[in-house]
Amino acid sequence: MTAPLVYVLNGPNLNRLGSREPEIYGSQTLEDIAELVAGEADALGLAVDFRQTNDEAVLIGWIHEAVDRDADVVLNPAAFTHYSYALRDACALVTTSGSRLIEVHLSNPATREEFRHTSVIAGVATGTIAGFGHGSYLLALRALVM
Ligand code: DQA
Repeated sequence: MTAPLVYVLNGPNLNRLGSREPEIYGSQTLEDIAELVAGEADALGLAVDFRQTNDEAVLIGWIHEAVDRDADVVLNPAAFTHYSYALRDACALVTTSGSRLIEVHLSNPATREEFRHTSVIAGVATGTIAGFGHGSYLLALRALVM
């Protein structure tokens, strides 16, 4: 049997993890997180495609690709979380197609600045995991195999 495919997608500025506000996001780089995600996916019997972009259109294209491949999605939409209706509409394509989309955040946006309290993604996501650092990604993978 082939392993179920999960797209793990990362939005803007997450390529700067490691040096970007480490007191909030931790000292691990995105490459470190990709390695941890790969290890967890292996242990859970999932195949993971891990990507990052700073470009909203590219991110939306990858979500369309996931829909076409019947893949579940773990998404850290980064700042797009708070205002991108285009990304929300793309995420809705995932969940209305019968696949799952888990919104993840390293930090807990609800404890931060007011503008971060709104997620336009949450309403079309299967669920949200926030505040556990890189553990949010690992918990999302576990949720997909529960
Ligand atoms: C983030 C939280 C967002 O508010 C922020 O814009 C990010 C990262 C997180 O993982 O905690 O870029 O999504």
